[in-house]
Amino acid sequence: LERTFSIIKPDATRRNLTGAINATIEKAGLRIVAQKRILLTRAQAETFYGVHKERPFFGELVDFMISEPIVVQVLEGEDAVAKYREVMGATNPANAAEGTIRKEFALSVGENSAHGSDSLENAQIEIAQFFAGNEIVG
Ligand code: GTP
Ligand code: MG
Repeated sequence: LERTFSIIKPDATRRNLTGAINATIEKAGLRIVAQKRILLTRAQAETFYGVHKERPFFGELVDFMISEPIVVQVLEGEDAVAKYREVMGATNPANAAEGTIRKEFALSVGENSAHGSDSLENAQIEIAQFFAGNEIVG
């Protein structure tokens, strides 16, 4: 089984959509093996999205991610990385498929409700940024 890292973003926690998003995750056959609600620091957000630091939307992205609490999670399942990307849908909700988290819940390309790791390597890096080994119970 594979593990991926997920964030329920501030636009979703603000609208009380944590449970609805978790239901979508679980219906897709992914198991939530670690979860906590936290407020990101600016430094954490800048590190987490460091690959985007030259992009014009970087400042806006960091401001958004620290604006309200997020829920960080580890999801486990067969092909978890690719499967969760599918369950989330396209980055821009306008392009997201029916039934995906972003189609159902996202407000815009920026406020798009969910993050999921884009590779197994990044999943391991991202999980280690937020969870100690003994906080993940598979
Ligand atoms: P993540 O799972 O959050 O990494 O999304 P992604 O992999 O589908 O997209 P990407 O890594 O390219 O972008 C990271 C995040 O930056 C997106 O999820 C959006 O929240 C935000 N973002 C991307 N493009 C734009 C944009 O054009 N404008 C704004 N405001 N935010 C953007
Ligand atoms: Mg990404």
